[in-house]
Amino acid sequence: MSKFFALIPAAGSGARMGNELPKQYLSLNNRPMIYHAISTLCQNQYITRVFVILAPNDNEWFKHDWLEFSEKLVVFSCGGLTRADSVLNGLTAAKQKDLVDTDDWILVHDAARPCLTSTQLDKLISELAIDNVGGLLAIPVADTLKRSNTENRVSHTESRENLWQAQTPQMFRYDLLTRALRNATSINVTDDASAVEALGFHPKLVPGDAYNFKVTYPQDLALAELIIQKRNNP
Ligand code: CTP
Ligand code: MG
Repeated sequence: MSKFFALIPAAGSGARMGNELPKQYLSLNNRPMIYHAISTLCQNQYITRVFVILAPNDNEWFKHDWLEFSEKLVVFSCGGLTRADSVLNGLTAAKQKDLVDTDDWILVHDAARPCLTSTQLDKLISELAIDNVGGLLAIPVADTLKRSNTENRVSHTESRENLWQAQTPQMFRYDLLTRALRNATSINVTDDASAVEALGFHPKLVPGDAYNFKVTYPQDLALAELIIQKRNNP
């Protein structure tokens, strides 16, 4: 039986957030942002372990107490220069420690998506567990899309038909994902699915919800805090 593992790449610097502290450690409801994703993933009954991939020079992680997650949480300080490198290095480290098999499922989730719910997570796992390729949470594009020219004037309106915004978790088997990420080193992918697509596969889009947005800019932090506070005090 294949097992399920979560892997959180958390080796980014959060340049667009513009804070000296990497965004995954910014305070969100009195916890470092990454705590929320770890908590949701660790509580999931199907997930065997949650791997967190830190930058090698990260010393912020060790200032916090993670004992509540016991051995379900496994930390590797092997992040790379890009997200894809961090994920691939993490997969390699987990395999070297004999923690995963090649046909196990890996759910890659951004540290900067703190509002993932267990409902969305369960939906992703149940829709993909018998899939041949794997896939990702995503939402159909709602806004009208404009393509600009170099002067920031509208060149034309793009059709939003069949367009989706990719989220995470993105769920693929260990062997396909490692193969895809190794192949992707020269093609600058920003998510796992694009690496898998580059091998000619068609990942499945599992409709998610807008709450699972990625905290990227300063105003996103306040929004995520509101969502989490509301959930804690309905
Ligand atoms: N990430 C990573 N290793 C990198 C770059 C990114 O593990 N070399 C992780 C981030 O920590 C984050 C996820 O990939 O959890 C999604 O990346 P993004 O939102 O782009 O975060 P940052 O790269 O940190 O932010 P920015 O692009 O604004 O610098
Ligand atoms: Mg980035």
